[in-house]
Amino acid sequence: MTTYTAINLVARPTGGPVGPELFEVVQKEMPTIGEGQFLVKQNHMSLDPAMFGWMSPDTESYIPPVELGEVMRSSGVGEIVESNHPDFNIGDRVMGMMGWQEYFLTDGTGLNKVTAPLPDEAILSVFALPGLTATQGLYSIGKPQKGETLVVSGAAGSVGSIVGQLAKADGLTVVGIVGSDEKADWIINELGFDGAVNYKTDDLAAKLAELTPNGIDVYFENTGGPIQHHVFERMNAHGRIAVCGLIADYPKAEPDLAPNWIPIIKKRLTIQGFTMPDHFGEVPALLAKLTPYVMKGQIKHRAHVLQGLESAMTGLNLFFTGQNKGKLIVKL
Ligand SMILES: NC(=O)c1ccc[n+]([C@@H]2O[C@H](COP(=O)([O-])OP(=O)(O)OC[C@H]3O[C@@H](n4cnc5c(N)ncnc54)[C@H](OP(=O)(O)O)[C@@H]3O)[C@@H](O)[C@H]2O)c1
Repeated sequence: MTTYTAINLVARPTGGPVGPELFEVVQKEMPTIGEGQFLVKQNHMSLDPAMFGWMSPDTESYIPPVELGEVMRSSGVGEIVESNHPDFNIGDRVMGMMGWQEYFLTDGTGLNKVTAPLPDEAILSVFALPGLTATQGLYSIGKPQKGETLVVSGAAGSVGSIVGQLAKADGLTVVGIVGSDEKADWIINELGFDGAVNYKTDDLAAKLAELTPNGIDVYFENTGGPIQHHVFERMNAHGRIAVCGLIADYPKAEPDLAPNWIPIIKKRLTIQGFTMPDHFGEVPALLAKLTPYVMKGQIKHRAHVLQGLESAMTGLNLFFTGQNKGKLIVKL
């Protein structure tokens, strides 16, 4: 019997680091493809902070939790190795939600062909969730205008790094908030940000004041935590805050208190959360917006690649220690 490896979620995180105790590595029999189906060999898989939400039992969220005993949810890129589908051929490269497994049997629902002649890592780092999220949040909520000042937290991460580069290309002053000097150096000297705050070592209030003398017009929020309060205090009248993620709160039993709401009235701020599943129907338009910046060489990325499916089980912790340098990807 020929088999392949898959990883099921069997327990829910309770705070703190996650590891193999939450998962079960199983061998599954290779499926026989039916009419209208094809089999994908997954080559690269994306790890995302959102997975902590998907593993939680919260049924009120924007997407149902992964059921215990089910293959862990994830997106990835793979190659079709068998096909009985009229529109998908052996050798085609596809992208979509395939889960933590080496092979994926499908009728094609929710999968898209990858035609761009770019490595899987570049596809997952730029044209998949990170680039789509950055484009959606920045333009639909942030509404950046040339000459304004934008601050982005998680600035060296996969989403934040693209937000900052788009805003720079549009003529804004861009300041990134990061957790290490190496990341500060990368976003300034490689990506062209105007400044960086190391929230672990700098005096946040003083450094933000120094780097944003004209206040802040757009805040792209990826982290929450104390950073949020300091940025909020410097928001200008009619400022916009795109609430993309609150990673500082994900490992906590109780999230931090948010800033007082009175300045929202006084400064007429717009604060809006968003999640990408609401916008998957807009992917062609988002890609049409993002792609010209990429073609002009204005969007650089770096991928942090882990080796082997099983590395995903502990790899997720890198998000909280900040040890991921760029888009976290598992090479199968
Ligand atoms: N709304 C949506 O649809 C959507 C879609 C994709 C992603 N997101 C959210 O966007 C955010 C970024 O995601 P990503 O995939 O690009 O991840 P990422 O930024 O590549 O990785 C997460 C980074 O967050 C930083 N971090 C961790 N704990 C922190 C804390 N307590 N305070 C401040 N920073 C902290 C770390 O960098 P440092 O070394 O700088 O600390 C870490 O490297 C996440 O909150 C994610 O949930 C939302």
